[in-house]
Amino acid sequence: MDTHALIDYALERYSPREIAMALGVDARTVRRWHTRETDPPPYVSDAIRQRLLPLQGLESDAPADFTFIDLFAGIGGMRTAFDKQGGRCVFTSEWDAYARKTYAANFHDGPGHVFAGDITAVHEKDVPDHDVLLAGFPCQPFSIAGVSKKNALGRPHGFSDKTQGTLFFDVARIIAEKRPKAFLLENVKNLVSHDKGRTFSTIIDVLTNELGYTVTSKVINGKHFVPQHRERIIIVGFREDVGFDWDGLELPDFETAPKLASILHKQDGSEPAEWNCLEGKQGKVTPNYTLTDKLWAYLQNYAAKHREKGNGFGFGLVTGKDTTRTLSARYYKDGSEILVSQGSKKNPRRLTPRECARLMGFEDTFRRNVSTLSQHSLRDFYVTTSGSPVSTGVGTMVSAPEVASSCEACMARSGLMCTAAGGRATVGAPLT
Ligand SMILES: C[S@@+](CC[C@H](N)C(=O)[O-])C[C@H]1O[C@@H](n2cnc3c(N)ncnc32)[C@H](O)[C@@H]1O
Repeated sequence: MDTHALIDYALERYSPREIAMALGVDARTVRRWHTRETDPPPYVSDAIRQRLLPLQGLESDAPADFTFIDLFAGIGGMRTAFDKQGGRCVFTSEWDAYARKTYAANFHDGPGHVFAGDITAVHEKDVPDHDVLLAGFPCQPFSIAGVSKKNALGRPHGFSDKTQGTLFFDVARIIAEKRPKAFLLENVKNLVSHDKGRTFSTIIDVLTNELGYTVTSKVINGKHFVPQHRERIIIVGFREDVGFDWDGLELPDFETAPKLASILHKQDGSEPAEWNCLEGKQGKVTPNYTLTDKLWAYLQNYAAKHREKGNGFGFGLVTGKDTTRTLSARYYKDGSEILVSQGSKKNPRRLTPRECARLMGFEDTFRRNVSTLSQHSLRDFYVTTSGSPVSTGVGTMVSAPEVASSCEACMARSGLMCTAAGGRATVGAPLT
């Protein structure tokens, strides 16, 4: 692709202002390049590739071993695992504007791919044929935190939550119409016990009895692969019974699993000062991640008050030797669930967006939404790192790639990739 074509391509994903920001020029210059009024200097080609476009797949539509669709895609954690297995994504649905930008910055999909928004507005017949359906449908209606919040506000939860609780049925209608060879659904562990088990029974009943799939599920903790306690249920189903079971899944021991130090910035000058998180020659984490005296005092008082009442609420202070609590999408607000100790003389700090990405199993090549690159805002990134109300613009990323990856490895060992996805049996390594 020549430089003009690259600019046109980038403009399909970003505004002139966003491109200008990433290249350090002004937006009018980008527009002039676009209209061919002026020619971009030679460095622009590399800069666009490196800063704005997915590194993989830019030039080609490589032949795929199988096709899949990515529903409730977040920033694509789940699909990362299936890309690695040689799959081609033919349809994505995600309605959160921030998540969509981050997704577009990280995945190149060929001309046949459709990137839809609200899945409830998509007719099932319009979804392309595919081998594997992926769906990390929203968990708030079923998660402990989501249910308590909805109860406190007197709002319905589970399937009675008409906006978020019924999205499973959108997945079901697509499975009914397209009959993929297999599917993988993901949700919070609490889905199993929600409404005394009735919610989960309904889901399994629909998948098994109404849709006729052979279905099995397992709760997997992300802490096998990353230093984060994150329990998620993975439900897999097969159109034909392929004899799948979970016995082939060898989860690494918690004892030997990586600890927090493995994802923290080294702060010794060995990491690039990206995303405004690091500064100086040593690449020290910028001071805005350190809690102010006021916030730190507030969090400590709040925790003490709850301790007196015998409640467990409070902040989670961790060191490099620890495993964190579950990262939530409200993390960018106060960061209370995961605070990194900086010793007794300094207030603790929040994780940076890059550290969050690592905690969710993303490799360092994963890109942030460029439209907020120049800010210290964490919002765009946390969009996808965990469960939280979409109404705040903060989507969810329940499905960490490491969990999806482990599942995919498991499915590969057990024949899903072979049988459902057309002949590939490679076992994918976890992404960490
Ligand atoms: C649990 S997250 C999925 C995470 C994703 N599977 C991943 O691996 O990163 C659920 C996502 O569903 C999106 N979502 C919620 N309702 C939606 C709808 N009606 N249509 C499309 N996306 C929706 C949210 O914005 C959120 O990003």
